[in-house]
Amino acid sequence: MRSSLLITLCVVAGLFAGGALFFLFPQSFGLAPAPAPQIKTSGKALIGGPFSLVDQNGKRVSEKTYAGKFMLVYFGYTFCPDVCPTELQVMSTALDLLGSQAKRIQPIFITIDPARDTAAVLADYMSNFHDSFIGLTGTPQEIRAVTKKYRVYYAKVKEKGSGEDYLMDHSSIIYLMNERGEFVKHFSFGISPSDLAAGIRKFL
Ligand code: NI
Repeated sequence: MRSSLLITLCVVAGLFAGGALFFLFPQSFGLAPAPAPQIKTSGKALIGGPFSLVDQNGKRVSEKTYAGKFMLVYFGYTFCPDVCPTELQVMSTALDLLGSQAKRIQPIFITIDPARDTAAVLADYMSNFHDSFIGLTGTPQEIRAVTKKYRVYYAKVKEKGSGEDYLMDHSSIIYLMNERGEFVKHFSFGISPSDLAAGIRKFL
């Protein structure tokens, strides 16, 4: 009798102790988010940075070429059957909606398929979109370097029986960079031209 009472008291005390711990340190029970770790920032986001690429006219360019303008950057490839042309059209329409303010923006398409997207191929492709669009290509190493800086995912997808043809898997994100080439904001796939225009206008 006495020992069972003792056990009961121990169990009750244990429950209280556990409850107290739960209220004091809920994150250690996996039920509440742990406090965010302190991250030191230099004031610059870790997206973007210097690059060296070739434009659709065959001219060597860098991020400095576009200094003083906002850059609206999208990564894709000209053989893309759907997503890329859709997004480039959304960007083009957003620039139209911005009217004269669009002069402050340099829209840039960077290929993730440099093997097929030569400067000449880009020159032809970019003519489908806003007049101010620049298409950039480079060596596979240069493309890999710039995609790493923008944290863009891409990979070749080859289906059996498709011969030499292939598709590219790639992330579809529109990046807004400021006049100093610093990351401002990104826009996800599916944004409407009017929302994109409004989203850009806030920072002009
Ligand atoms: Ni695409």
